[in-house]
Amino acid sequence: MVEKREHWGSRFGFILAASGSAVGLGNIWKYPHMAGSNGGAAFTMIYLLCIAVVGLPILIGEFVIGRKTQLSPVGAFEKLAQKSWWKYVGFLGVASAFVILSFYSVVGGWTLRYTFLALTTGFESFAGNPDIASDAFNSFVSNAWNPIFWHLIFMGLCIWIIVNGVKGGIERWSKVMMPMILVLLVILMVRGITLPGGMEGVKFLFLPKFSDLTASSVVLALGHAFFTLSLGMGTMITYGSYLGKDQNLVTSGILILVIDTIIALMAGVVIFTTVFALGADPGEGPGLIFTILPTIFPQMPGGHLWGTLFFFLLFLAALTSAISILEVVTAYFIDQKGWSRSRATYVFGSIIGIVGVFCSLSLGGFTDFSTVFNISFFNFLDYASSKYMLPIGGMLTAIFVLYRWGIPKFLEEIREGQKGKGLPDIVVKVLFSIAIVVVFFIIANEIVEVFTGSPLIG
Ligand code: PHE
Repeated sequence: MVEKREHWGSRFGFILAASGSAVGLGNIWKYPHMAGSNGGAAFTMIYLLCIAVVGLPILIGEFVIGRKTQLSPVGAFEKLAQKSWWKYVGFLGVASAFVILSFYSVVGGWTLRYTFLALTTGFESFAGNPDIASDAFNSFVSNAWNPIFWHLIFMGLCIWIIVNGVKGGIERWSKVMMPMILVLLVILMVRGITLPGGMEGVKFLFLPKFSDLTASSVVLALGHAFFTLSLGMGTMITYGSYLGKDQNLVTSGILILVIDTIIALMAGVVIFTTVFALGADPGEGPGLIFTILPTIFPQMPGGHLWGTLFFFLLFLAALTSAISILEVVTAYFIDQKGWSRSRATYVFGSIIGIVGVFCSLSLGGFTDFSTVFNISFFNFLDYASSKYMLPIGGMLTAIFVLYRWGIPKFLEEIREGQKGKGLPDIVVKVLFSIAIVVVFFIIANEIVEVFTGSPLIG
């Protein structure tokens, strides 16, 4: 039954698909609101540090594991470490995919609904009034039916792209969507900086005040580094498994990381220049992008168009990431269970869609039933995945490379697509060790805080 594995059509296509996975709601929705409520620049610094020190080795590590084995996470770990418990790291990834996509797709639905709202009303009634916009947003997300409708459309689109395969679905759409995202962000950024008072927002984002930093914002920054690079759940292993031997995985990894970071910072500039120009509250929280920006667009020349495009692009960014999450689950059933692509996608896309319905209901439609540990099911899934599942998955992947698979074999695979000799073994060992130690301490600190009420450090 050996069918030929699907592969990317070109290096460019792979880079766009992988950066499409990385660039998503994490960059444009989560990063700005997290930075806004955690001291702005101080948070940005820690986030950049985590990306460089922890993110890069694990990103490249995932690509290498995927390309070497030509399998999605469970099969990949099984192949490299036969008859061992390592395959459970792969299962943890599949579980994380379920968890993340359930709430991710709800927010994806919000972006669709806001695109529609922008197109039909131009946000006229929100002009200059964050209170009205914020009430409208809150009543929308806590409504029982409306957000579910949009969430299901969003999930339907994910399913449709994934059914079309690696080249015909994922790569094809990423090639269209990624360049559009970049162009629009540049335009909106220039617009933001030239708003009167806009530069204050840039300062907020880039001039750190370390007094604002707490241990919990460090945990948040680390978790976010994993989330934004799509690490710790095998997405990049899966995407790497569709690569041929001719690719340079190190330069690809660096390029994807740079694209992801630049886009997050650009989104931050777009949002904070606007927030400061309007005198709004940067610590507004998760609703930031949905409550502040719609008040600005109607005040700008051509705002109707920009508003529509902005939310449409946010939707596209969400979609290029959501498909990569669904692909992890789909690929598991294709690789390990021999299912057809369409069966795996329809079945699991639908199940995740149903979990997402509960997630959406937990925001107000049906709260009594759906609260876990005193927070909504929605927030619970978000915290569980970004604070624990992804960092733990990423740390185990790094431990796997260092202790089980071994750096020499790992480097042998990397050197396949590389011209020069690359970094010496010892440097790579040190890089992975640092990543492991950092993640370990940050997670341990968080767990101690949860159980004892006070962190070890911070
Ligand atoms: N990286 C995506 C974002 O920033 C989210 C994501 C997480 C995608 C994990 C795949 C896996 O929005």
